[in-house]
Amino acid sequence: MKQYNNTAFNINDVNKEVTLYGWVQKKRNLGGLIFIDLRDRSGIIQIVVGPDNKDYELASSLKNEFVIKVSGKICERENKNSKLITGDIEVLVSSIELINSSLDIPFEITDNTTALEDTRLKYRYLDIRRNDIKDKLITRSKITMAIRKFLDKKEFIEVETPILCKSTPEGARDYLVPSRVNKGKFYALPQSPQLFKQLLMVGGIEKYFQIAKCFRDEDLRADRQPEFTQVDIEMSFVNEDDVMNISEELIKYVFKEVKNIDIETPIKKMKYDDAIKYYGSDKPDLRFDMKICDITNIFNNTNFELFKNVINDKGIINAIVVKNSADKFSRKNIDSLTEFVKTYKAQGLAYLKYNEEVTGSIVKVLSDEELDNIRKKLSVEENDLVLIISGQYKVVKTSLGALRCKLAKDLELIDKNDYKFLWVTDFPSFEWSEEENRFVSCHHPFTSPKDSDVDKLLNDKANCYSKAYDMVINGYEVGGGSIRIHNQDVQQKMFEALELSEEQIKDKFGFFVDALKYGTPPHGGLAFGLDRLTMLLTNTENIRDVIAFPKTASANCLMSECPSNVDNVQLKDLNIKLDDLQ
Ligand code: AMO
Repeated sequence: MKQYNNTAFNINDVNKEVTLYGWVQKKRNLGGLIFIDLRDRSGIIQIVVGPDNKDYELASSLKNEFVIKVSGKICERENKNSKLITGDIEVLVSSIELINSSLDIPFEITDNTTALEDTRLKYRYLDIRRNDIKDKLITRSKITMAIRKFLDKKEFIEVETPILCKSTPEGARDYLVPSRVNKGKFYALPQSPQLFKQLLMVGGIEKYFQIAKCFRDEDLRADRQPEFTQVDIEMSFVNEDDVMNISEELIKYVFKEVKNIDIETPIKKMKYDDAIKYYGSDKPDLRFDMKICDITNIFNNTNFELFKNVINDKGIINAIVVKNSADKFSRKNIDSLTEFVKTYKAQGLAYLKYNEEVTGSIVKVLSDEELDNIRKKLSVEENDLVLIISGQYKVVKTSLGALRCKLAKDLELIDKNDYKFLWVTDFPSFEWSEEENRFVSCHHPFTSPKDSDVDKLLNDKANCYSKAYDMVINGYEVGGGSIRIHNQDVQQKMFEALELSEEQIKDKFGFFVDALKYGTPPHGGLAFGLDRLTMLLTNTENIRDVIAFPKTASANCLMSECPSNVDNVQLKDLNIKLDDLQ
């Protein structure tokens, strides 16, 4: 067995005889001496082979990524390398054994690779040899270890729940698995262990957790994978604050253990409605300011036709101020911001530059009083840029929210080492789905409404709020959960509110509604996205960087080439016939 890490040695080990294993990172031949950077998981140590060594020929023939075993003596280096942990020493080799050779590698195993991500994903096992990916996997492992340690101490029990499940509508599309034994029937892969963890509470487990694989067939983004991992938690006899408290204690512990970062607790709370009002998002990034400000009232008696019409249509006029930046934005820059907000359905983007003179796209159509009121309301100073969007509430907020984040990125207003934590609370129970032309669950159908809003479930859905909360870090939703409905009558009402028929309820959730009738304790919980948490703790914006074998944006694994065709025999076994694919 390999006994040592390459980087376990230092100047105090001079003259020690060691046997090391690893990969050839680099080989140089200088004046007859062969220098090899030997790499293992821990890092690099230099080994030296002299011309009179019996294995000199072998050493000369080594190429990058060959696997070798070397024995030798640790010596002090003449030319020290402060960039290496082992930079003061080298191993003067007595013997080398070639354990395995390697084909020429498709990209170099270096920190700053220029290889395309597709190539790296095709040869992911080589990519993992790079510090960049390897270190992220190590951090991920440290995070899960810390989580287990913390939750174990708090008496949580780790329980595994099924991967072959019943298909229950939960938001995203299911991944389906055909059953061979039960012809024509399907399992679904879990979108989350939601129902099972609630059933574990019915089962009296009281405190459950699981590092759970979840599967969702949805459009992928930089922070979304079809197969991802949740730190799934559920507790009985708790209220919202109990779950939030233990969750932030857990996150505090993880940040301290893994990164030695102290988080200030309690974490700030913001109601969902305020998050939308001031940041245009239910996951506001608080590392920079630029709050959205409502300036509708300034235009109650305006002569500017566009704003007048917006107000008549019950719309709003909102602004953000980009401090001390008016001179940084040319007409062309503003045009490109306008194109950007149009992708969020905004009609346009007005701007004002407050310098000695006020200039901008709407300066001629506003009165001096209006311009001055804007200046006062937004506390505008010299060289500030004011960006204004008018229209319907949701569009205005969403587009200004997205613009706020884009500007912070473009203007480099974000300190990459900063972490800003937030609980977003008091979510609405429902959101209107334009697609389905009905109210759908904002979280999931098991989320309890606020006690005061139970009656609104059927009568006033738009104003029904829930006991749901999300943890947001730096603009990422890293976790979400709620207090659940533990009363079967309220659960029944919720299904009705979601316009599920009696038959659908029985078919999809019958087992669950039945379970609620057997002395269900009040309970609640939350799930953290382990991948997103790891992204934050490793400073990457690409979720694929923190997953050993991730899928591409089109849900493919480039290495194993899955999904793939299957044999007709397999299909026949499953009673499946494929339509002609176009
Ligand atoms: P939710 O759907 O909010 O809640 O998921 C919880 C957390 O999981 C992460 N997440 C994802 N990460 C990567 N790729 C995805 N496709 C993806 N989808 C979600 C997010 C999110 O905050 N059962 C409930 C939890 C509960 O109520 O206890 C649930 O699944 O970080």
